[in-house]
Amino acid sequence: MSAEPVMNAKPAAVAAEPIVKVQNLVKHFGIKRGVIVSKTVGLVRAVDDVSFEIKRGETLALVGESGCGKSTTGRLILRLLDPTTGSIEFKGKDIAGVDKHTMRHMRRHMQIIFQDPYASLNPRMTVGEIIAEPMTVHGIAEGKARDDRVRELLQVVGLAPEHASRYSHQFSGGQRQRIGIARALAVNPDLIICDEPVSALDVSIQAQVVNLLQNLQQRFGLSYLFIAHDLAVVKHISDRVAVMYLGKLVEIADKRTLYAKPSHPYTQALLSAIPRPDPTLERNRILLPGDVPSPLNPPSGCRFHTRCSFVQDRCKVEEPQLREAGPGHRVACHFFESIPVQAGVKAGNAPGKFAERLAAFEAAKVRNVAGRLAN
Ligand SMILES: Nc1ncnc2c1ncn2[C@@H]1O[C@H](COP(=O)(O)OP(=O)(O)OP(=O)(O)O)[C@@H](O)[C@H]1O
Ligand code: SF4
Ligand SMILES: [Mg+2]
Repeated sequence: MSAEPVMNAKPAAVAAEPIVKVQNLVKHFGIKRGVIVSKTVGLVRAVDDVSFEIKRGETLALVGESGCGKSTTGRLILRLLDPTTGSIEFKGKDIAGVDKHTMRHMRRHMQIIFQDPYASLNPRMTVGEIIAEPMTVHGIAEGKARDDRVRELLQVVGLAPEHASRYSHQFSGGQRQRIGIARALAVNPDLIICDEPVSALDVSIQAQVVNLLQNLQQRFGLSYLFIAHDLAVVKHISDRVAVMYLGKLVEIADKRTLYAKPSHPYTQALLSAIPRPDPTLERNRILLPGDVPSPLNPPSGCRFHTRCSFVQDRCKVEEPQLREAGPGHRVACHFFESIPVQAGVKAGNAPGKFAERLAAFEAAKVRNVAGRLAN
């Protein structure tokens, strides 16, 4: 069997055609009770009628509070979970209903990088075995060709070929995440679901890994679904941003628009929560009352109505649909046209930590982080 080139160079520019298109995607988890006779006693509406697309070479960030359905959305696209209803098109083919065998072949083209580089790598396998495994599973390379490819992949992610014989516990967090990235790249994918890929890392290492991901995207034309809490990371890496609340998309726009003109009250609250050292700006922070409601029993009408300071009677009974707010900008709020962008919300030029972290990402990019890690 002959080995493929380590990665096929693909056009770096964002293409017009989507690589992934999800439409009306729904995932409800049944909550079961009873030992002998098991009964479904409730439904967790983790993802509830979500539609978006990701273009070839594009990074779509998915943001929102814990439990809003980000990881579930990523796992549905990979078909690690079966959707309740809805369609998932990958490269023009509907994969929502394909059988496990077909999906195994498709999965070669889409990979995932997890949040925790400590838990996601098998401690009993060498780094070389970890990176080689998907190549064996998908019949991409074997023997010397596979070993050569492992060494090449290690270099692509800024590690050394001789690292192949070591075990993952011998590496730092940033280096382990690089191993995870090399493993994902091993099958020459088109799409990578990055599920909080840097949030478990030290701040100084985050910038290096984020910039490595950008560098690889440029080289290989990869598309990313980038799931994150950190809005500084998202501002740096994404082309577009989708905001989720309780299983629903509430706003989607290109990143410039979203950070300069956030139109949904929830997006405004997320952006206003970015830490700032200036106390006058801190006073403008929008405090959301209460916790996120349970997805077992989401509020009627607009799911955000229990925490929204602009709520009106209509919001409690009628669910808002995503509506056009500008080119490529859609917002699910009945009243977004009349809701002003409040002072202290625009994060585009926010001083303090946010700007410092953005600057750190830019600086790391200039230093060409695809080079070897010193840590
Ligand atoms: N297998 C499952 N069975 C039942 N409920 C589940 C299952 N997986 C996820 N959920 C629920 O679905 C909702 C969405 O979970 P998900 O992990 O997608 O959220 P998330 O946005 O990724 O959160 P986080 O930011 O904490 O990672 C949560 O309420 C979660 O408890
Ligand atoms: S629809 Fe109503 S409750 Fe929902 S975000 Fe808009 S104003 Fe707030
Ligand atoms: Mg998650």
